Amino acid sequence: MTAILGVSPPVYHEVKKPPPAIDFRDVKLTFAGQTDGTLVLGGISFSVRPGEIMSVVGPSGCGKTTLLRLASGLVPPSSGQVWCNGRRVDALNTEVGFVTQDSNLFPWLTALGNVEFPLAVRGVPDKERRERAMHWLELVGLSGFENHYPAQLSGGMQKRVSIIRTLVYEPSVVLLDEPFGALDAQTRMHLHHELLSLWQHQKSTMLFITHDLVEAITLSDTVVVMTRGPGLVKEIYDVPLARPRNVFEIYLEPGFDKAYASLWKHFKHEVQEVLLPGGAL
Ligand SMILES: Nc1ncnc2c1ncn2[C@@H]1O[C@H](COP(=O)(O)OP(=O)(O)OP(=O)(O)O)[C@@H](O)[C@H]1O
Ligand SMILES: [Mg+2]
Repeated sequence: MTAILGVSPPVYHEVKKPPPAIDFRDVKLTFAGQTDGTLVLGGISFSVRPGEIMSVVGPSGCGKTTLLRLASGLVPPSSGQVWCNGRRVDALNTEVGFVTQDSNLFPWLTALGNVEFPLAVRGVPDKERRERAMHWLELVGLSGFENHYPAQLSGGMQKRVSIIRTLVYEPSVVLLDEPFGALDAQTRMHLHHELLSLWQHQKSTMLFITHDLVEAITLSDTVVVMTRGPGLVKEIYDVPLARPRNVFEIYLEPGFDKAYASLWKHFKHEVQEVLLPGGAL
């Protein structure tokens, strides 16, 4: 561009957008041994922005857990690609942390020992390891319980330990597979509150699997609705609720009812064939 009347044009520096934290590019998957060639995932494309909380909902068996296993490099796609922070995932992905549905705590280690474990594996020195683990235990209200073994903790406490055991090593992406499925409604609500507080504190990217639309709306920026097998993306829905959110009164937020109705419209079609084959919900 040339200068007009001696005034130089402004120089715009291109702001480089960071790559998606997770990017599924037309991912198809058939498990080895499925000789009939049945597709579990039929061509999945969506991406998770850095710092975003995204939930995936879909009927049982549609491939939600499989998506997380693909993102962590435990399973390779049959075709298509998975990318994480600008790098193609073609081996075990060490940038992600995985919180599984069961707490999977080591029963022979105390709460503190469990939280310290991933730091020990990474060679963090003893003193720093202890300080970091105690800090995270305190963040979720477990100071005083650090010397308790998993069997001496309630289900909700075990879940807290399981989540901070992953967050403590600060993975850039946290994958959570229905982590609150087995808990009562009040404990879940408290854990939603704590998870959002931890996220405010750390701002890691979260990819969260759930069956529960309220949980998805409460926690997420975006919700992906999947179809029953072969898994496909049916809808990508932006949750219109501001942050920070009060999880205890999320139902009263303007926009909550509309968000629920929109999601249910897509979701019910997928679950009705499972619940009422040939019928209508
Ligand atoms: N290792 C495997 N070998 C063969 N088939 C598998 C394997 N893992 C999963 N599957 C099949 O892939 C499909 C998707 O499984 P996945 O566990 O991802 O479903 P999901 O959506 O997480 O279900 P749920 O909501 O019940 O947890 C299922 O039909 C399952 O039987
Ligand atoms: Mg699953």
